[in-house]
Amino acid sequence: MSIQAVRGTKDISGEEMRKWHRAEQVFRDVTAAFSYQEYRTPMFEHTELFKRGVGQDTDIVGKEMYTFEDRGGDSLTLRPEMTAPIVRACIEHSLLHHNPIQRLWYAGPQFRYERPQKGRYRQFHQFGAECIGSPHPEADAEIILLGYEVLRQFGLTDFTLEINSLGSADVRNAYRSALIAFLEEHKAQLSEDSQKRMYANPLRVLDSKDERDRAILQSAPLLGDHLDEDSRAHMQAVLALLDVAGVPYKVNPYLVRGLDYYNHIVFEFTTEALGTQNAVGGGGRYDPLFSMLGGGQHPAVGFSIGIERMMLLHDAQNVDEQGADEPRGVYLSAIGEEARLPVQMIALRLRRKGVHVVTDLLRRSVKAQMKDANRENVAFTIMIGESELATQTAVVKNMVTGEQVTVDQTAIESVVLS
Ligand code: HAM
Repeated sequence: MSIQAVRGTKDISGEEMRKWHRAEQVFRDVTAAFSYQEYRTPMFEHTELFKRGVGQDTDIVGKEMYTFEDRGGDSLTLRPEMTAPIVRACIEHSLLHHNPIQRLWYAGPQFRYERPQKGRYRQFHQFGAECIGSPHPEADAEIILLGYEVLRQFGLTDFTLEINSLGSADVRNAYRSALIAFLEEHKAQLSEDSQKRMYANPLRVLDSKDERDRAILQSAPLLGDHLDEDSRAHMQAVLALLDVAGVPYKVNPYLVRGLDYYNHIVFEFTTEALGTQNAVGGGGRYDPLFSMLGGGQHPAVGFSIGIERMMLLHDAQNVDEQGADEPRGVYLSAIGEEARLPVQMIALRLRRKGVHVVTDLLRRSVKAQMKDANRENVAFTIMIGESELATQTAVVKNMVTGEQVTVDQTAIESVVLS
């Protein structure tokens, strides 16, 4: 039996790959405009990092991590997210000593053992940005705008920015008790999942997709009603900055997010277009994370976007892919044995000048090479045969207009680059 890709993983190629490249260009352009630096961390970390950073009682740590013991007996985990690794790196390399504000971005594969379905994979990719060092609402707004710009510049419009405040740790603790008391009153009617979660992670019950849970939660106490003055002011200041930027949002009092490190602002970019996997991206302020990882007190805020979900939304929205199918480059065709060597030399010359060149590697007939040139969607086909060799010329055919000219071999560049 042939071996297939692991369930929940995907190959990326062809047209899809070109779309990814375009997305990567948007990541680079937007992060450069916001002055964020790329940061790359290893694909695996000590398991302890995620246990402490993401939280023991979260779904990620409880049931989704790819954890293994290496040959030296260390417990390692394929990264399920990037915020804990970035903070680990900040602490390890004392980045904040060098500059009290760190603006960092990343893009790369993440791993979670989830039940695969459309928009949910076991290896998926995130693009994200973290703004570390500022407790002020300007940092929250900067991060939200960066995420918004990436989606927008990739051509996406069919999404909503949802936002909520989780308040300070004190607010959350007080609210937690009130929520548990409420859930206890309705315990018998709650879904099995919510019953399991209500003590360890009661805020997550608010996120439940179960219809019965949702009906009960209609009358649950809301975190928003428990916020203290500072938390309220922080939220209002972020919303005011979004208003000024003209970025639309929806305050969602049920939005809590699934990771333990958040406080104050949390947000998600959601869409109706992807069925149940409705979050294209999400993030928030995570002031507690540095101290959870033994790195002192440092405020921070960030987000990640799921790249596969961004692509699915792109497809669902039918974004106009300008230039996606335009012919480009040249097919350099050797006709007959004698032409093979000179053609390879000309190919290298053109490639060094940045021309995209395809040559035939199967020693095909002229007819078969022309068919191949059509498949490769090139802008020009260049043919060199016996008579061209004798006169040091080449036949250049414009594949769009069909026009054909014979030029000196040294003049090929001027035709195909014009
Ligand atoms: P998260 O909400 O767990 O947050 O993931 C962010 C995004 O990654 C999701 O909105 C979704 O688009 C994508 N994603 C998550 N799991 C999968 C999956 N199994 N398959 C496909 N896509 C998926 C975080 O990871 C935080 N680190 C975000 C953050 C950064 N908070 C502060 N800074």
